[in-house]
Amino acid sequence: MVLPLRPAQRDDAAADGPRLDVLRRRRPAGGRADHGLGRLAALHARRPARRGHRHAAEPDRLPVSPERTAAPGADYWRARARALGERAVISTDHPDGAALDDVTARHRAHVLPALAAELDGTERTVLDLGCGTGRLTADLAAAVGGRAIGVDPVPELLALAPASAATEFRTLEVGEPLPLADDEVDVVFTLTVLGGLLHDDELDATAGEIRRVLRPGGLLLLAESVSDLPRVEHWVPRSADDYAQAFPWADLRVAARFDDAGDPIAVLAGR
Ligand SMILES: C[S@@+](CC[C@H](N)C(=O)[O-])C[C@H]1O[C@@H](n2cnc3c(N)ncnc32)[C@H](O)[C@@H]1O
Repeated sequence: MVLPLRPAQRDDAAADGPRLDVLRRRRPAGGRADHGLGRLAALHARRPARRGHRHAAEPDRLPVSPERTAAPGADYWRARARALGERAVISTDHPDGAALDDVTARHRAHVLPALAAELDGTERTVLDLGCGTGRLTADLAAAVGGRAIGVDPVPELLALAPASAATEFRTLEVGEPLPLADDEVDVVFTLTVLGGLLHDDELDATAGEIRRVLRPGGLLLLAESVSDLPRVEHWVPRSADDYAQAFPWADLRVAARFDDAGDPIAVLAGR
């Protein structure tokens, strides 16, 4: 299956470079970007001191080659991890003064109640796919009263994950199957991960792998950006409908919505 992108995105998908021209045009005058993962996708071409809340530790350009590699998305996240450390996983539209713990607390406050409302009491094992630094992995384990497996392709992020008896972290080799057995988990969870799968076939392959590792009748809960701004180099802002089409077997519906530094996030749930 090839996931259709909306027309504007389809045009952009054919472009060789980032569509920062479009991004700038659509940014509110004097305001903050509200696309995808905020400045995340635009870091390559950002101008020095163009914005008042630029992260002091953030380079003007991340050292990511614009060439296509075997895993351009993961390469970007690895470079971002090296540049930003544990803040790499949150939108750079959060002001520098916003404590990471506070941002994470807000994420917890939105996604954990949505997750709790979707559980049927039979779940014991959660996959935190694209877990990054494992900010929420232990919370996911606690939500099911069991354990959680965090999986991410970036070792630099996994190295920052806190150890806990209820969590385990595994490295994903991009392009390879997920490092889990068939039907190993009762819940698959993502938080701002799937928009980083830059090509429809990557999303389709990941959806297939999610289906393989999620036991029949298990819960799929995706908290993803549904910004309608055009795609840029590192982020494809898909709609809730796009995700529903990518996981037709899960019968996804929007269970909650929240705003993350100007970025609209939909929590999609289904089985
Ligand atoms: C915005 S961060 C979110 C991390 C984490 N979910 C959180 O909220 O803290 C996106 C994450 O997706 C990971 N990622 C990139 N490519 C991936 C892939 N193909 N499969 C799974 N995760 C991927 C990145 O390494 C990064 O940790």
